[in-house]
Amino acid sequence: MRFLEVDGLGQVSRVGLGTWQFGSREWGYGSDYAEGPAGDIVRRARELGVTLFDTAEVYGLGRSERILGEALGGERSSVVVASKVFPVAPFPAVVRNRYEGSARRLQLDRIPLYQVHQPNPVVPDSVTMTGMGALLRKGRIGAVGVSNYSLERWQVADTALGRPVVSNQVQFSLAHAGPLADLVPFAEREDRMVMAYSPLAQGLLGGRYSADHRPGGVRAMNPLFGTENLRRAEPLLALLREVAAAHDARPAQVALAWLLGLPRVVVIPGASSVEQLELNVAAADLELTASEQADLTTAAQAFNPVSSARTLVDSVRKKLGV
Ligand SMILES: NC(=O)c1ccc[n+]([C@@H]2O[C@H](COP(=O)([O-])OP(=O)(O)OC[C@H]3O[C@@H](n4cnc5c(N)ncnc54)[C@H](OP(=O)(O)O)[C@@H]3O)[C@@H](O)[C@H]2O)c1
Repeated sequence: MRFLEVDGLGQVSRVGLGTWQFGSREWGYGSDYAEGPAGDIVRRARELGVTLFDTAEVYGLGRSERILGEALGGERSSVVVASKVFPVAPFPAVVRNRYEGSARRLQLDRIPLYQVHQPNPVVPDSVTMTGMGALLRKGRIGAVGVSNYSLERWQVADTALGRPVVSNQVQFSLAHAGPLADLVPFAEREDRMVMAYSPLAQGLLGGRYSADHRPGGVRAMNPLFGTENLRRAEPLLALLREVAAAHDARPAQVALAWLLGLPRVVVIPGASSVEQLELNVAAADLELTASEQADLTTAAQAFNPVSSARTLVDSVRKKLGV
């Protein structure tokens, strides 16, 4: 495993585990998954040196936090658990209240990384960060993070907190490479952490989905799995397969290794099985050559998916047969 030193958190494993899938209806994995594989995945992740576990109060309406806290057992206080407050009316008393709920479900007295799930379009960060700062000063959290923040808003959040907001969790993968332009250089310059969520583009970069085999649940609404975007993703997937073959690895591992080849980036892939978790952790040991890294960056930047509106029109047309 490779690690990243982060202010307030110490050493963070560069491959973490995302747990939105735990207890969430959206993924369609069912209660058997929540009661069995979810816990096995967490325990195996610990055996393999994973120290970063991402969850949120909204995942499965608290079930993800409960399953994670339970599965970590006695180790729950010695790893970096990262949870998130969903910022509806994020006034200080509300933030405090939501925090208490998360801490209780996770069975923790202190949550190492507490993140604002998304920027509130109306309530400014000066308000949200007042509550987050109070938790930090009281030692109830180890560090403050944000999620889905632009670079500009991340900097506004820094000012509002009065100290660096250590991390920004954003959608980041070969299929969504926007953070390369601004967030990664900022994180490198300022020693922050970019947490790449959906690093496998929700499974697209595993290379096993096609127009004849699409995932269901929340992913049925993800425009990346629309017919036109699956077609547009072909050159990227072909390159992933080629690089994977050269390393005797899997496309998903190459997709993660590309992110890990960037400074100050950690990945938090979700997993539907222990085997996937093992493959994802092993990606930390996969070193791409400089030319593979550059070719993948070029392919990512050339991938130009159509919008969700266009995908919707296409699927209506298909249903109508026009
Ligand atoms: N802050 C936010 O707004 C936000 C938003 C989204 C996610 N997140 C966080 O980021 C985490 C990860 O994102 P995500 O779950 O959306 O997407 P992801 O990690 O890109 O995709 C996870 C899915 O990919 C498939 N997969 C995993 N490992 C694989 C492998 N080695 N080979 C092939 N397929 C593999 C599995 O689905 P199948 O086996 O069913 O195909 C798995 O459920 C979440 O769990 C959550 O913690 C945060």
